[in-house]
Amino acid sequence: MRQKIVAGNWKMNTTAEEGQKLASEIINMVKDEVNTNVQVVLSAPFTHLQSVSKLVGGSKNVGVAAQNVSEHESGAYTGEISVSMLKSVGVQWVIIGHSERREYFNETHEQLAKKVDAALKGDLTPIFCCGEPLEIREKDQHEAHVQQQLKDSLFHLSEEQIRKVVIAYEPVWAIGTGKTASSQQAQDMHKTIRQQIASKWGEGVANDIRILYGGSMKPDNAKELMDQPDVDGGLVGGASLKSRDFMGIIKSA
Ligand code: 13P
Repeated sequence: MRQKIVAGNWKMNTTAEEGQKLASEIINMVKDEVNTNVQVVLSAPFTHLQSVSKLVGGSKNVGVAAQNVSEHESGAYTGEISVSMLKSVGVQWVIIGHSERREYFNETHEQLAKKVDAALKGDLTPIFCCGEPLEIREKDQHEAHVQQQLKDSLFHLSEEQIRKVVIAYEPVWAIGTGKTASSQQAQDMHKTIRQQIASKWGEGVANDIRILYGGSMKPDNAKELMDQPDVDGGLVGGASLKSRDFMGIIKSA
């Protein structure tokens, strides 16, 4: 049985104080109300990572993620944050290749491959995002599009390395739009991804790797999505900013 993961991506929201309040609420609710083996991840803005890590403390089932990381180890890269900086404030996970980073910050496949390498080298767990824009879905090319994204940025990894990666399928047309992929659409794509992994690294790896769904996941659609056999959790944007909504999703896992 693959352990489910529910990750909240706060994006560029909350002040430090609001972030601490949100994290505290979630950590307490998880402690008091969750008795299943679900991994919760809080992906806070860089400025809040240290304080959120402190609040999480040694909690086994709540972890902290960054929303991006530099592919470089150190040096003259003004404004960038390295893997070792993240590690030094207690971060264990990092989102790589979110569609917003690809679209607004022109992150390329090659760069994302390097970010994945840097994260793995520094023992951060990458949550690697993939997903197609609406026009690609309408042309019925979504499977090929996502397969190409995985090929371009992950296919250089060894079996040992890919086993440490979590994949998040986030159809771009479902992000922040209130338009969720149907559970069947999500399942179909997750199955395709798992088959692609099986053909590259073998069935054993494919059976173990976690594939999350992201895109307007809410308390009222989370259960149906996460009940699909190949959906191993969620990467949640908007609904992760309200502790009760996020808890509703965690409890559906
Ligand atoms: P929403 O849940 O707000 O659609 O965002 C999804 C997302 O982009 C998570 O990374």
